[in-house]
Parts: sequence; structure tokens; C-alpha cells
Amino acid sequence: MLKVLGIAGSPRRDGNTDLLLKEAIAGAAGENTQTKTVILSELSIAPCRHCDGCLNTGKCVVDDDMQWLYTELRELDYLILSSPIFFMGVTSQTKAMIDRCQALWVLKYVLKLPLALNLNRERKGLFISVGATKPAELFQPAIATVKIWFKTLDISYAGELVFPGIDAKGAILSHPTALKEALAAGRRLVTGQ
Ligand SMILES: Cc1cc2nc3c(=O)[nH]c(=O)nc-3n(C[C@H](O)[C@H](O)[C@H](O)COP(=O)(O)O)c2cc1C
Repeated sequence: MLKVLGIAGSPRRDGNTDLLLKEAIAGAAGENTQTKTVILSELSIAPCRHCDGCLNTGKCVVDDDMQWLYTELRELDYLILSSPIFFMGVTSQTKAMIDRCQALWVLKYVLKLPLALNLNRERKGLFISVGATKPAELFQPAIATVKIWFKTLDISYAGELVFPGIDAKGAILSHPTALKEALAAGRRLVTGQ
């Protein structure tokens, strides 16, 4: 079974990115895949302290929910990350998780140990986001952050699904194609079609 991990980065439960993520995960579900979604706002994930406690071991010394999430991040075959835009970036819940992956950065680049545990299979990831406003560059800083995080985790960036002009809780439900697009993007991620 191929593992699909969904990560919900919004602090607003059942908000716009939650709804999109749910569809994308439904699209990725199939006979060959097992799916799981984690809700970052329900976990305890402290920000990186830059204490260098991971520098010799690749293991973070902070004992919280990242400890099991590291394993999930190393085992997955497909990742679907969702986060709305908060002040032109990903949410702080999402960024805290990303920064805590400094320990995996050490594992890979300092200790030169294998990071992905799925035995040489290509790992692929999708990024889902929404924002209230519509400037042309709205998603660019978040995409840059996600791309470098994926690269660190040996996850190929399969693309993004982003919707500007989405603000009120549930506004995405009034979008003519968004949920269908999310379903299709999830399916495409795991089947290539
Ligand atoms: C703290 C905060 C910061 C935000 N910053 C931005 C922003 O920089 N640009 C933008 O277009 N929308 C911004 N928004 C609006 C959210 O992106 C928007 O409400 C989105 O639909 C929330 O998605 P969710 O329902 O998945 O949480 C911000 C919202 C909050 C609460």
C-alpha cells in the first residue's frame, strides 16, 4: 500500500483549505493507497529553537508531536499540504512544522543518511492554498517555502492548487470548480492521470 499523508495547516477547522484537502485526499484514495490526514492546529508542535540539538544525531530534542510526525514524513509516498495564506506566507502552524524539519535537513545534508524510508520510490507532493486577496504574487512566497521543504524531504513538487479571492469560512463551496479540481488533483497525484 502506498501512503498518502494529508497535512491541514489552517487553524480554522472545516475552513476553505480543509474542504479542499478533504477532496484531494478523497481523490487520492484508492485500492493501492492508504490515506491519513493530520490537523496541525490540534497537535503540539513547538517552533524550532535553533539549539543545534539535532546537529550530531538528526534527531530533534524537543519532545512533542513532531516526534511521530517525523516518522510519517519519512514513510509517506505522497504528501498533500494545505495552508491558507497568512501575511503572505503559510500559517504559523505550518511553518513551525516545516522549521522543525531542520532535524531531517541535518539527517540528509550533514549526516548523509537516507531520509525517505519508502525504498527508492519517488515521493510526490501537492500544495493547496487559498487567500482572501488577489495580487498576482499572492502565493509565491508560500510556494517558495513549500518547494524548499519538499526538496529537503526528497519529495518532488507535483504542483499547486491555489485560489485567490477566498475569505469567508466555506466561501470555497461557492467556487464553480474548486472542489472538483481538488478531487482531480489528488487523483492525478497518485495515478499520474
Ligand atoms: C492572520 C491572518 C492573516 C491573513 N493574511 C492574508 C494575506 O496576507 N493575504 C490574503 O490574501 N489573505 C490573508 N488572510 C485571509 C485568509 O487567507 C483567508 O481567510 C482564507 O480563506 C482562510 O482559509 P481557511 O478557511 O482554510 O483557514 C489572512 C487571514 C488571517 C486570519
